Amino acid sequence: MPIILKTRREIEMMRRAGQIGCEILAAMRQAVRIGVTTFELNEIGREMLASRGAIGMSKNYPSYTPGEGYPAETCVSINEEVVHGIPSPRQLKEGDIVTLDLALRFDGYCADTATTVPVGRVSDKVNKLLNVTRDTLAIGIKQIKPGRKWTDIARLMQYNVESNGFNVVREFVGHGVGRSMHEDPKVPNFVTAEQLKGDFKLRAGMTFAVEPMVVIGRRDVHQLPDGWTIVTEDGLPAAHFEHTIAVTDAGADILTDGRAPWGL
Ligand code: MF3
Ligand code: CO
Ligand code: CO
Repeated sequence: MPIILKTRREIEMMRRAGQIGCEILAAMRQAVRIGVTTFELNEIGREMLASRGAIGMSKNYPSYTPGEGYPAETCVSINEEVVHGIPSPRQLKEGDIVTLDLALRFDGYCADTATTVPVGRVSDKVNKLLNVTRDTLAIGIKQIKPGRKWTDIARLMQYNVESNGFNVVREFVGHGVGRSMHEDPKVPNFVTAEQLKGDFKLRAGMTFAVEPMVVIGRRDVHQLPDGWTIVTEDGLPAAHFEHTIAVTDAGADILTDGRAPWGL
């Protein structure tokens, strides 16, 4: 499928979705504390989406394997869960980290944003994981400029992760965003022969989600029998930060940055 370039008007529509997403994720993040359940965190997202007339794009998202669609409005993933954790009665405890991922559509246009939050005090290693993953997203975004090849940016993101002793998950990548949550192109956080083949040059009007997933240990992951939750093979923690951006002549315009307390 071709990459769909957006007009300035469409980018403003996406910014509206992005600001709602950012506001909701900030509220969910504020509710993170010892004892809260991931169901309760999703409830905040579900209610705020409804009150703003926005649609959570995860809900009923079709499964790769035959079965039911994704059952909630947001993805809430704890510790070794990398992405697509399903909200549940599980309570967060001190030292956990929790990834909140929200994609929504408002007035026909989507935005997608995620952050990983510590619960109480976390170990130095886990704290470093959060900082490196957040920085990796920032490094990628700062490099965005019309004319650049995406793999040159992905290589810098991968280098930042690996030079800090961590690893980049390979099974999931960023993606174009627009009227749909997922559009072409694929926006990887690492470089392999396959990424070089699918490479693209940045052009003003492109809109996509950049979303590094970083692990402390080995990068191998698998899906739990619930059909959704992706966990690390070695059980070590993972972090995930995501922003939706538009490429402009001046660089990246972060559409999910309204009041994002997790930075950028
Ligand atoms: N928000 C996710 C992304 O960053 C997609 C979630 S789809 C779901 O691309 F069905 F798994 F929820
Ligand atoms: Co995404
Ligand atoms: Co997302």
